[in-house]
Amino acid sequence: MQNLLKRVRIIGDPVLKNKSNSLNFPADVPFIMNLVEDMRKTLDMAEGLGLAAPQVGESVRLFIATPDHLEELNGHVVFINPEIRPYGEMEKREEGCLSVPGIYEILSRPSRVELRAKDIHGNSFTLDVGGLAARLILHECDHLDGILFVEKLSPIKRKLLKGRLKKIKERGTV
Ligand code: NI
Repeated sequence: MQNLLKRVRIIGDPVLKNKSNSLNFPADVPFIMNLVEDMRKTLDMAEGLGLAAPQVGESVRLFIATPDHLEELNGHVVFINPEIRPYGEMEKREEGCLSVPGIYEILSRPSRVELRAKDIHGNSFTLDVGGLAARLILHECDHLDGILFVEKLSPIKRKLLKGRLKKIKERGTV
């Protein structure tokens, strides 16, 4: 268990700052299959809602969601090369991240999102979701652009968190 948890990259790790690259079909399918298998195990152990590839050290545009939101996500758990259009009212919601362990903060984001992505077989699909599913998609897509949710907090909140974030970075693991 510890080995898998250790693989989640923690704030301060440069891989979390990268803009990730798109995946190619069918060339990358074997890589994708292995990566998704690994990420599913990691997400199960770590008990998060979602996990993006950069969080396990891979700068590629892929994220997974827990099966808890299967219905809202129309049966999809793997999202590859996602393109999104956030819309709707801004909504306040508490967020956390496996790469920023122990920090939970209220963050405002658009309440809904339209998404187009590919599944593990390279088939395109679209979704139009709100609620927690929208929040999950927006959070994970930020990871693919090298953005952590704590970077989107107000300057005052960031200042208040500075000491705790520094400690997490120094410790470097969960
Ligand atoms: Ni996260």
